[in-house]
Amino acid sequence: MLKITNHGHSAFEINSGKYIILIDPFFTGNKHAGTKAADIKADYIILTHAHGDHFGDTVEIAKSNNAEVIAVHELANYANSKGCKVHNMGIGGQWDFPFGKVKFTIAHHSSSMESEGLYMGEPAGVIITIEGKTIYHSGDTGLFLDMKLIGEMNSIDLALLPIGDNFTMGIDDAVKAVEFLNCKTAVPMHYDTFPVINSDPEEFKRKVESIGRKCVVIPFGSSIDL
Ligand code: NI
Ligand code: MN
Repeated sequence: MLKITNHGHSAFEINSGKYIILIDPFFTGNKHAGTKAADIKADYIILTHAHGDHFGDTVEIAKSNNAEVIAVHELANYANSKGCKVHNMGIGGQWDFPFGKVKFTIAHHSSSMESEGLYMGEPAGVIITIEGKTIYHSGDTGLFLDMKLIGEMNSIDLALLPIGDNFTMGIDDAVKAVEFLNCKTAVPMHYDTFPVINSDPEEFKRKVESIGRKCVVIPFGSSIDL
């Protein structure tokens, strides 16, 4: 069984009992994160892109846990330059890690280290196959038709999708994404952290249910079993 924890924004933790995998570990400055970066344990950190609200506390957490950072080439190189152990990947590529498989997908967004103006490769989404379950974290993205292909080629148990609008999909586009992905359960993310991404997860849930699909709103700091 997997324990999935929502640390707020796009920061999620997958705990298999044997491995802890963090995605987009944004704790410092994340008003919904109930845990400090210093108290977070991780074996692997998967990054969707370089923006501060996703790269977050990667360097501190990776170093204090000797965790491996998994990201697209340029971003992995950057993390490596900051002293992190890394595994470089590219969009469309898959790799077998000790905990399971990781495959990066496209995402329509941008990716740079804003503070330093550095190009960080393409933004990505990620498909993680672990303990017989498939989890798709879309990263920051607008809606795209290839989500149909992702849904066709993967039996997605859990899809983590942004609903905050402005920088990413809003609610209606995310509902369309649920339809395209044909996922068993959708979980909203990337909302209410900043005023421009205020959005109602319950409205998303109602709309997902209205098309006959399941949605779970994981309260910030809480976990579900998968
Ligand atoms: Ni972003
Ligand atoms: Mn973001």
